Amino acid sequence: MKILGIESSCDETAAAVVTDGRTVLSSVVASQVEEHKKYGGVVPEIASRRHCEDIVGVVDEALEQAGLSLEEINAIAVTFAPGLIGALLVGVNFAKGLVMVSGKPLVPVHHIRGHIAANYLAHPELEPPFLCLVVSGGHSHIIEVRDYTDFRVIGRTHDDAAGEAYDKAARTLGFPYPGGVYMDKAAKEGNPSAFKLPRPQVDGCPYDFSFSGLKTAVINLVHNAEQKGMSLPANDVASSFQQAVCDILSPRLMMAAEEYGFKKIVLAGGVSANSGLRARVEKDCAERGYRFFAPPLSLCGDNAAMIAAQGYYELTVGHTAGMDLNAIASLPVDDPILSSFFKSQ
Ligand code: KG4
Ligand code: ZN
Repeated sequence: MKILGIESSCDETAAAVVTDGRTVLSSVVASQVEEHKKYGGVVPEIASRRHCEDIVGVVDEALEQAGLSLEEINAIAVTFAPGLIGALLVGVNFAKGLVMVSGKPLVPVHHIRGHIAANYLAHPELEPPFLCLVVSGGHSHIIEVRDYTDFRVIGRTHDDAAGEAYDKAARTLGFPYPGGVYMDKAAKEGNPSAFKLPRPQVDGCPYDFSFSGLKTAVINLVHNAEQKGMSLPANDVASSFQQAVCDILSPRLMMAAEEYGFKKIVLAGGVSANSGLRARVEKDCAERGYRFFAPPLSLCGDNAAMIAAQGYYELTVGHTAGMDLNAIASLPVDDPILSSFFKSQ
C-alpha cells in the first residue's frame, strides 16, 4: 500500500511516499527556517504563506522521486492536528484537492502520532506495545503506545515543552533559532556540573515535567552575570542545561516503564535528535535490560514520511475522513473525541 504523506503543521512543507508504513520511497522537506531565523521564532502568517508557495512543488517532487503518478498512490495522509492553524489548513486543503481529483481515501494524521511512527521507518522490528518519550518544540509527553492507533498519555509537561526550553535557553546564550542543535553542540564541549540548575518536580504527578523553572534559571544565570559585566562560558551553561534536561526526562521515563511494565523504550520528536538525551536514555535502558529505539537524525524533525507511515496504520483500521475535514490547532494524542474526526467517506 503506497501512501502519500503531507505535512505543514509548522515551518516545514513536506511530502513523502511510504510503502506499508515502513519503506520510504521518497521524502521531500522544504524548510523555512532561514526565513523565521530573522525573527527569532516561527511567524505563523509567514509560515502559511510559504506553505502556499511551496506545497505544489514539494508534492510533485515527492511523487517524481518515488517514480509514481497520483493514480498509483493508494491514499493521501495529511497532518490535521495539532499545529499552527493557518499552516495546517494549507496541507489539509491541498490534500482534499488531491482527493477530489484522484478519488483516493483521505487519511487525517495526528502530528505526534506521526513523530512516533518515524521509528517504524528505521526499525522494521519495532512493533507496539512500547513506551515513548515524545519531545518536540511544542510537546513533551510520555506515551503508552498500546497499538499503532491506540495511545495513552502517562506524563506531560505542565508548562514549556522541552524544545521550547532549549530554544529559549539558546536565545539567551546568543545562538540562532532554532537553538536546540546549537545547544547540543556547545554542551558536548562544556562541563555538565559547572552550574547548579533546578530539576523541578510536579507535586502528585510523578511522570509529569515542568521546564519553565529550568528555563528561567538559565535566563537569570546569564542575565545576572551580564549585569556584573561578566560573560559565562556558553559551553558550560549549555552542558549544565542539557544535564538538567536529561535528569528531568530519563528518570521519569524509566519509572513509568517499570510501573507500567514496558521493556521497549522509544524516543520521538525534534529533541530526540539531542545527543545527550539519546545517550542517557540508551544507557539507562541498557542498565535495566530494556530495548532502546530512536529515529535516525534525518527523521527526528518534522517530515512527511512519518505522516505517511502513521497514515498507513490509520487507514488499515478505517480511519479516513470526509471532505469536511478541518484542521485543529490543539488536540491531545489520546483524546477520546479524536475518533469522531475519522469518518468513512
Ligand atoms: O519535532 P520538531 O521538529 O517540531 C515540532 O513538532 O515542534 O521539534 C523542533 C524542536 C526545536 O525546539 C529544536 O530546537 C529542537 O526540536 N531540536 C533539538 C535538537 N534538534 C532539534 N533540541 C535539542 N537538541 C537537538 N539536537
Ligand atoms: Zn513536530
